Amino acid sequence: MNTREKYQAYVNTAFLPAVDPLVIDRARGATYVDPDGQSFLDCFSGISVANAGHGNEAVIAAAKAQMDRLVHCCSYLYHVRPVADLAEKLARITPGNLQKSFFGSGGAEAVEGAIRLARRHTGRSEMVALTHSFHGRSYATLSLTGNAGRKKGGGPYMPGVAFAPAPYCYRCPFKLGDPETCGMACAQYLDDVIRYQTSDDVAFFIAEPVLGEGGIIAPPPEYFKVVKQVLDHHGVLFMADEVQTGFGRTGRMFAIEECGTNPDIMVMAKGIANGFPLSCFIAPAEIADSFRPGDHLSTFGGNPVSCAAALANIGFLEENGVPAAAARKGEVIRQGLLGTEPGRVVLGQVRGRGLMIGVEMVSHRADKTPAPQEAARIRAALRERGVLIGLGGVHGNVLRIQPPLTISDDEIGQLLSAMKAVLES
Ligand SMILES: Cc1ncc(COP(=O)(O)O)c(C=O)c1O
Repeated sequence: MNTREKYQAYVNTAFLPAVDPLVIDRARGATYVDPDGQSFLDCFSGISVANAGHGNEAVIAAAKAQMDRLVHCCSYLYHVRPVADLAEKLARITPGNLQKSFFGSGGAEAVEGAIRLARRHTGRSEMVALTHSFHGRSYATLSLTGNAGRKKGGGPYMPGVAFAPAPYCYRCPFKLGDPETCGMACAQYLDDVIRYQTSDDVAFFIAEPVLGEGGIIAPPPEYFKVVKQVLDHHGVLFMADEVQTGFGRTGRMFAIEECGTNPDIMVMAKGIANGFPLSCFIAPAEIADSFRPGDHLSTFGGNPVSCAAALANIGFLEENGVPAAAARKGEVIRQGLLGTEPGRVVLGQVRGRGLMIGVEMVSHRADKTPAPQEAARIRAALRERGVLIGLGGVHGNVLRIQPPLTISDDEIGQLLSAMKAVLES
């Protein structure tokens, strides 16, 4: 049996039933290679993970060295140096007074732990999240996810979750749409959500600084400042889910740095270790210390190899000015896309920050009718030309361009000419 046949027979592939999947054999930088030696330009980074480039030499060397010393002992039963070093590093590079980290293996696990910490600290139980959000595929994280498409077949979900409207200016929930004049109505409305949809027992509000799976929605600059005022008024913690936005992706080490406020708890995963499984939630000491002995543990969390890889990864991002380069490269791609003249479909909006870029495809500019089938066809046509991108948005009509941040100018040229050819054909 070849790899595809074995997948069909033995792997529970719940995500891509209708798509003919690619088999990836190896990768370097922004290039995937299949078993026949055919190359593909990776503009999705294993879902926004390989920020420092596939096979990054510094990261691989650090992981190999750690593998020779110690692979596992459970970093919560015993102390290991890479965990201590990484926790210190994260306290230095994260905003505000975030200080103490708890490490897990994946994003959903870290959000789960952060939920528990916020409830423990506040003694409250309710939660507020955003529509269009995504926070993972476990029971609690799907409960916080504001997207029926992702939740289908898994309900009923956790009680105690209310949803505030996403700051989605292109499809403004209040039909205002201009952040200069709207008075941040969606942020203000959070006050109503807390007052009328909860029992005033809200532990935290969770949000992605740029909504990823929901279609690369970057809130206007003032949004989180207003949100924070509302939260402070109600004594509610602000939890930033930086799982997808962190580690340089949006042009800063963390996207929340550009939002004018600091979170009380921050969750990270994906790009933290450039592909080694690791996640983390971090909080100021007075919040983190609300956990009591025995409250929380993860067998694989804080794996020494993953932590060593994460340290090298962060060092690489810092030493090479990768976040700032991502901001510049993202602008080049956005401007390049704005210059294309699509045929039958319309680029409703080209948006995002850094190398977290969304192109919302619609069939009519005026009524903004989502065009998910065309978006899927565009992605398939790009693959024919050797370029891999993602799809997202509640309607499945947003092209997602999230390449390794090390993507070269030549590769950006290759992406843009493939996009132009496909969009204009
Ligand atoms: C913002 C956000 N939070 C949480 C998750 C869940 O992460 P994981 O798939 O590692 O559990 C994701 C995954 O896409 C995400 O984008």
